[in-house]
Amino acid sequence: MERNKDVLDKSLEIPVVELRHVEKYYGEMHALKDINLSVERGEVVVLIGPSGSGKSTLCRTINRLETIKSGEIRIEGKKLPEGGKELAELRTQIGMVFQSFNLFAHRTILDNVMMGPIDVLKRPEEEVKKEALELLKRVGVDSQADKFPAKLSGGQQQRAAIARSLAMHPKVMLFDEPTSALDPEMIQEVLDVMTELAHEGMTMIVVTHEMNFARRVADRVVFMADGSIIEEAAPDEFFTNPKSERAREFLDSINRH
Ligand SMILES: Nc1ncnc2c1ncn2[C@@H]1O[C@H](COP(=O)(O)OP(=O)(O)OP(=O)(O)O)[C@@H](O)[C@H]1O
Ligand SMILES: [Mg+2]
Repeated sequence: MERNKDVLDKSLEIPVVELRHVEKYYGEMHALKDINLSVERGEVVVLIGPSGSGKSTLCRTINRLETIKSGEIRIEGKKLPEGGKELAELRTQIGMVFQSFNLFAHRTILDNVMMGPIDVLKRPEEEVKKEALELLKRVGVDSQADKFPAKLSGGQQQRAAIARSLAMHPKVMLFDEPTSALDPEMIQEVLDVMTELAHEGMTMIVVTHEMNFARRVADRVVFMADGSIIEEAAPDEFFTNPKSERAREFLDSINRH
């Protein structure tokens, strides 16, 4: 009975992120074609696809770093504001971690984590500091708190960047190839932090080439090519039995590497 109720509640819930018929052009280049994607609370969606298929563009439209030509994007049912204070506010609720350049070089790791909550959310410093140190501990870089980013390894920097995003209590976290710029031995430590976050129930959209992560952590894999979503499925189904020729080719090309 309890479980039935859960299912019912879930189905009534508004998606955290919803894109409907989204079209995006860069000049003549049709970068996103009729994108429809709905991400539920606590869901982990992994976006994969060949280079240039529109994965980064899709992520960037979600916090309006890129504007769209037509269609609709909603965060918890609310349409993305066009600009101004409302957009700034909405952006604070969407965490984003890129390949690199996530931290301010001239601020310590601790300051990096504290500045959003203090400057933007206007929360009291003491409280923010306590929470920031907890977050740094959670991602395993609390011993680096007083250092500048350049003194940390790439993996440590990326984990600090995740802590920095989490300090804003985002509704959703977007990761765009967060491990692509890292040396192999540092990739796993970042994926481990992301895995833990997923298990704690964070809503996540992750662009990655780490297929083991996708297999183990994703609730759903979304495969893109040429600006379109070609197919989406549970990871097991997608990796063992991709439906489209494009996805099969893509998986083959990865497996050859
Ligand atoms: N600022 C831009 N101006 C013009 N074209 C762009 C711009 N950004 C991306 N594009 C083009 O849009 C298409 C989609 O790019 P996007 O970066 O979203 O792909 P991607 O799937 O993230 O690729 P990758 O795996 O290489 O990161 C590509 O053809 C790209 O060249
Ligand atoms: Mg990209």
